[in-house]
Amino acid sequence: PLTATGPLVTQAAAAHHAVAAFNVITLEHAEAVIEGAEAAAAPVVLQISENAVRFHHGRPAPLARAAAEAAAHATVPVALHLDHVRSTDLLHLAADCGFTSVMFDAAHLPYEENVTATRTAATWAHRHGLWLEAELGQVGGKDGTGPLDAHAPGARTDPDEARAFVAATGVDALAVAVGTTHAMTSRTARLDHELLARLHDTLTVPLVLHGSSGLPDPELRRAVATGIAKVNIGTALNIAMTGAVRAHLAADPAAVDPRRYLAAGRSAMAAAVTALLGTLAPLTAR
Ligand code: G3H
Ligand code: ZN
Repeated sequence: PLTATGPLVTQAAAAHHAVAAFNVITLEHAEAVIEGAEAAAAPVVLQISENAVRFHHGRPAPLARAAAEAAAHATVPVALHLDHVRSTDLLHLAADCGFTSVMFDAAHLPYEENVTATRTAATWAHRHGLWLEAELGQVGGKDGTGPLDAHAPGARTDPDEARAFVAATGVDALAVAVGTTHAMTSRTARLDHELLARLHDTLTVPLVLHGSSGLPDPELRRAVATGIAKVNIGTALNIAMTGAVRAHLAADPAAVDPRRYLAAGRSAMAAAVTALLGTLAPLTAR
C-alpha cells in the first residue's frame, strides 16, 4: 500500500535500520522498484526528483499519480517522495499529486538563506501533511555542481551547525554530507564515519544519505550501523537498466518494440533493487 514516509523512516531509525529510497524517472522505474521490494519483502520509498519532473516537461502529476497508483497495489509499504526540490512552485504542487513527503534542497545557498528557505518550506509542508527532509553541507555531483572532492574543507556537514539548522527550521530529517557524491558510476566512495557518528550523536532527527550509488556494500552497511536511516539510490538502478537495454539491443539489432527492451531493463533494475535491499537488510534478517 501507499504509506506515509515519516513513520517508515522514524521506525527504521529507532531500530537502527535504514529504509531505501530509489529514484524513479519513468513508470518502468516505479514498477521495477516495487517488484524488487516485493521480492525482498521490504518497505521502500519511490522518489521523483525535480530533475525527473523537468524531464517530464515540468509536470509532476502524470508520473507521480502513476507511481502512487502502483504503490497502492504493492504487497509491501511504499512511500512516494518528491526529491531535491528547489522550486517553490513545484513544492506547492506536491500536495496534489500523491506525494507523502518532500526533500527541499537549499543546500547550495549560504547558511542563513538555507535556514530561511527551508523553514518556510517545512512550515508549508507540515501544514499540508507532508514530511520534510532538507540538506546541510554539499553532496555534489548534481548538474555538475558542488565540490569536486566530497571530503574538501567546508563540503561536509558540521555537527554544531546541523543542530542549529534543525532547531531553526523544524525539518523532520536531515541529509548530511559525509563523503558521498551524486551520480557515481563506480562504487569507490569512502565515508567519514567519525563525522557521521558525531552527527548521529548530536541530532535527534533521522539522517539521510544521498549519492549512495557510489558506496561499496560494506560502506553502505557501515553507514546504516553508524546512524543513516534513509539511503538514497538512483544511479545504480540506471546502470542496471541501461546495461540490460544496451545488451538486448546489441543482441537483437532489428528490435523495434520498446516493450522488449524496456522489459529487459525493468527486470535488471528489479534485481538490482532486491540485491541492494539485501545489503541494507537488518543483520538479524540476513
Ligand atoms: O537523491 C537522490 C540520491 O541522492 C541518488 O544519488 O544517483 O548517486 O545514487 P545517486
Ligand atoms: Zn540526492
